[in-house]
Amino acid sequence: MRYSIVLTAVLASLGLASDVHELKDDTLQGFVEEHDLSLIEFFAPWCGHCKALAPEYESAATTLKEKNIPLAKVDCTEEQELCKKYGVEGYPTLKVFRGDDNITPYTGQRKADAIVSYMTKQSLPAVSDVTKDSIDEFKTADKVVLVAYFAADDKASNETFTSVANGLRDNYLFGATNDAELAKAEGVKQPALVLYKSFDEGKDTHTEAFEKEAIESFIKVASTPLVGEVGPETYSGYMAAGIPLAYIFAEEQDERDTLAKELKPLAEKYKGKINFATIDAKSFGQHAGNLNLEVGKWPAFAIQKTDKNQKYPYGQDKKITEKDIGSFVEDFVNDKIQPSVKSEPIPESNDGPVTVVVAHEYEKLVIDNDKDVLLEFYAPWCGHCKALAPKYEELGALYASPEFSKLVTVAKVDATANDVPDEIQGFPTIKLFPAGKKDSPIDYSGGRTVEDLVAFIEENGTHKVKAAIEAVKEAAEDVAEEIPEQAAAASEKAKDAAESATDKAKDAAETVADKAEDVTESVKSAASEATESAKSAASEVHDEL
Ligand SMILES: *[C@@H]1O[C@H](CO)[C@@H](O)[C@H](O)[C@H]1NC(C)=O
Ligand SMILES: *[C@@H]1O[C@H](CO)[C@@H](O)[C@H](O)[C@H]1NC(C)=O
Repeated sequence: MRYSIVLTAVLASLGLASDVHELKDDTLQGFVEEHDLSLIEFFAPWCGHCKALAPEYESAATTLKEKNIPLAKVDCTEEQELCKKYGVEGYPTLKVFRGDDNITPYTGQRKADAIVSYMTKQSLPAVSDVTKDSIDEFKTADKVVLVAYFAADDKASNETFTSVANGLRDNYLFGATNDAELAKAEGVKQPALVLYKSFDEGKDTHTEAFEKEAIESFIKVASTPLVGEVGPETYSGYMAAGIPLAYIFAEEQDERDTLAKELKPLAEKYKGKINFATIDAKSFGQHAGNLNLEVGKWPAFAIQKTDKNQKYPYGQDKKITEKDIGSFVEDFVNDKIQPSVKSEPIPESNDGPVTVVVAHEYEKLVIDNDKDVLLEFYAPWCGHCKALAPKYEELGALYASPEFSKLVTVAKVDATANDVPDEIQGFPTIKLFPAGKKDSPIDYSGGRTVEDLVAFIEENGTHKVKAAIEAVKEAAEDVAEEIPEQAAAASEKAKDAAESATDKAKDAAETVADKAEDVTESVKSAASEATESAKSAASEVHDEL
């Protein structure tokens, strides 16, 4: 074996007799469509892990060739677009392709025999036939195992289950039996589905209709531990679960275990309604700040409504016991607690050209009125925001007259110090909340000049308030025209024109400068992405140790 690996490596390095297909932008699609199952490595020539993988990959390709499972590779330094398209973030990335639309990450080891075994399993049916002799062993073969019990002639159930299994085969082990005796022994009536797990109550029986969607949501709930753990791998799942998440923050593993045990009866009681999970306060303590908890005061507990990002922190001087948390959670479920809102104090006076919005007054000043409200979400440290500030003040002043201030508000909110319901991607973010259409604010994406903003408010606001800036200018021009002496008028006009041209040039220059800064920021973020993938590559080293 060792010899053949070395030999294939040598051959490969000579560019000879490789069983690994090299794919490019114009060949990948055809390749994956032609084969029911294939494995593709996305790599970079300079990457150390890729070099280590190369001989193993070659050897696996040779073995798997006989089973008609081809292995291929894509050089991401040459095919950048292609790698981007498939979401490649680090090297090497291996993906299992079943055609072009069923793509799953390869999660096995990077050794020849592991690749062969993994891919061979992938080529087997997603559902194993389970018998009287194999069922006991099968039930405990993985952390989560599903066994369906249906009659031999029940084609519909068989197809439904197979299709569920095809979609989730990488996550769970699926088996099925048509042995009526086994169903009887399990105490279920065909068609039935039982999920066996190595944690919590050990198993769960599906009681809803034997239909794809119902089964999938059953699996999602039943396979989640009663008290799980929030971490980089599980966080997005919890956020996508569509139900609130209750966090238990503690620094030490044994403390988390104790608290998890203490609160498990609650997790059981609210199963399917609230997820409960511990979180390592040493590594992810900062997250407590997002839940309006005081960072550093552990242990702590909070509930988050994940869909609306509303936070319900539990008093940090109180004890975390089943009883106390139990009544807190019950109040939460019965809507008896208000979400916690982080807010700056309401300003004592607020009559400047730019209205200051804080969370406590957000509803009143932004939503609950008949004005067109232009709102800037800023951060105190953001350079673009500072650059915009004087222009924004100037803009606000244009709507300060009693007539206009009834119709338009120019406002700002420090989004780092106030909870806002809007999703903010970057700073500054400017949105217009038009009167009567407050639920569909319009994002501003134009240049950061007073004129552009004025035009935006006029065109997209409900009240179509016509720019005061124009009125001022026109008035000036009118005055100019009234001056009897033509020459004076002309020179005045010329001056005006020159001034406005200068202004325009200045604005344009500023826009360009802004754009240049934007470029810098996106370059920066590209750089930090690179660092991230380097980091994740580095952490992979540990995985393999
Ligand atoms: C489901 O159908 C497949 C294909 O017809 C068959 O091989 C398999 O044995 C069936 N499963 C059971 C449990 O009857
Ligand atoms: C009004 O809003 C739309 C949609 O965001 C935008 O494309 C358009 O440029 C805006 N009008 C002005 C004058 O800014």
